[in-house]
Amino acid sequence: MRWWDVEDVVALERELFSHDPWTPEQFWGELAHVPETRWYAVHEDASGIDGYVGLFAVPPEADVQTIAVAPRSQGRGLGRELLDALVAEAVRRGCAQLFLEVRVDNAPAIALYERAGFEPQGRRSGYYGPGQDALVLRRRLAGDAP
Ligand SMILES: CC(C)(COP(=O)(O)OP(=O)(O)OC[C@H]1O[C@@H](n2cnc3c(N)ncnc32)[C@H](O)[C@@H]1OP(=O)(O)O)[C@@H](O)C(=O)NCCC(=O)NCCS
Repeated sequence: MRWWDVEDVVALERELFSHDPWTPEQFWGELAHVPETRWYAVHEDASGIDGYVGLFAVPPEADVQTIAVAPRSQGRGLGRELLDALVAEAVRRGCAQLFLEVRVDNAPAIALYERAGFEPQGRRSGYYGPGQDALVLRRRLAGDAP
């Protein structure tokens, strides 16, 4: 992801995260830390950007900052492909564990993460606002091939 992708990414972000979308300033703030502690990628189809993913990595720990796939491209393995690329980058950077937060009611995302080997670590009450809890999931990376 480069700065000139941010406009299209934010348009997708607003479509997919209607309750609390990241602003352009938040994406620019993240990109300012590439490559030191961040890694961001986009996927494009013939119509433009249809997916993006972001990693925060300070070895030995890493976090999934964001992952999203446009509705037109969902259900075809792109989310898994983006997540696998993020995991490979975290391993390349020497991270041993990868964490993420996900809304307790986000069944598609939870299914994606569980399929990819993430396990529940706990629940953060009110993480996304009053009455909106987050699940904390973790995947151990030590032992993954670099
Ligand atoms: C979560 C998201 C990234 C998944 O992307 P995707 O490209 O549709 O996912 P994939 O096609 O790669 O599916 C991977 C696995 O996730 C699961 N999954 C994906 N969508 C699902 C759905 N709607 N219902 C149930 N399981 C689903 C499946 O188990 C699938 O594994 P399988 O193919 O072996 O059955 C996408 O739905 C999205 O962008 N959602 C909105 C943004 C969001 O919530 N991001 C995560 C924030 S924590």
